[in-house]
Amino acid sequence: MLRSVIAGTGGYLPARVLTNDQLAEAYNLDTSDAWISERTGIRRRHMAAPGESTADMAAAACREALAQAGADASEVDAIILATATPDSAFPSTATRVQEKLGIHRGFSFDISAACTGFIYAVGVADSMLRSGACRCALVIGAEAFTRILDWTDRGTCVLFGDGAGAVLLRAEDEPGERGILSTHLHSDGRHGDILQVEGGMVRMAGREVFRHAVSKLASAVDEALAANSLAKADVQWLVPHQANLRIIDAMGRKLGLPAERVVVTVDRHANTSAASIPLALAEAVRDGRIRQGDLVLMEAIGGGLTWGAALARF
Ligand code: ACO
Repeated sequence: MLRSVIAGTGGYLPARVLTNDQLAEAYNLDTSDAWISERTGIRRRHMAAPGESTADMAAAACREALAQAGADASEVDAIILATATPDSAFPSTATRVQEKLGIHRGFSFDISAACTGFIYAVGVADSMLRSGACRCALVIGAEAFTRILDWTDRGTCVLFGDGAGAVLLRAEDEPGERGILSTHLHSDGRHGDILQVEGGMVRMAGREVFRHAVSKLASAVDEALAANSLAKADVQWLVPHQANLRIIDAMGRKLGLPAERVVVTVDRHANTSAASIPLALAEAVRDGRIRQGDLVLMEAIGGGLTWGAALARF
């Protein structure tokens, strides 16, 4: 039976870094490092340079994932890119990435599920790899979120950053333990208005989002563990969507995981929406924390509302 194995991971962050104080000064915000870091854990974020596109960042992340896998771009026959900040309505950002990587066969498309986009993209790619629709897929989360922020709304503009992450998934048919074990996708449009892009800018009812976050994430995590007959104690790494340290800590506690088993980047990246999980994965693989054979749990919630979880054996 076909399985999707994670062959490589990659991440890209724009060169420009703004601390909370620098952001406040640059955009004349009535805020403080203490307010932002105490409520969210965010200390700084990266910002795409003028002219640096979502596709540019995504392609850079893909190059690292390909190199780590020892794969050539010519092997890739599917590119699935999750973003809420595509470079244009069409061509899709995935197709732009395909061109940047010099790939001229197979197929590519974007997925829109806000901050849950990467979990959705992994779910779709895994189904297509298992069905034989493709053999080798780049699965990407890439965002230029700072382009859709209202810099007069201090309640949202301090929360987000830019970047991209990618994984290379390969279909394997030999028996083995490694690969995407399962994905669990959910949405409920009744809550669409609490986190949306309106008039081209992010609008969020932060408290409302917070209220939904932990319970929905916990139920997706329970579902993922039950589907694989696994216990909380089997999870070696939690790689959560990086929106807010308080939500991340609450999920770590629910799983009974010590803090060092939870991969955290929100302090340095802020919330990079669909890019946050693959960026965190890339960092933890690069620095040797996540190793082959480790069981990794990913979870996210975002606009839609959308939420979900994925379990993978690296
Ligand atoms: N600096 C200083 N004061 C601020 C700022 C700021 N950056 N932003 C808001 N305030 C003020 C408000 O004006 C308000 O002042 P008031 O009491 O005088 O009216 C006060 O702080 C409290 O505002 P709230 O919005 O109620 O602040 P809250 O304590 O809820 O914290 C936060 C806001 C951090 C956004 C919190 O609600 C939260 O973390 N929510 C979850 C949001 C989230 O994680 N979203 C992302 C998940 S989905 C996704 O990733 C897209």
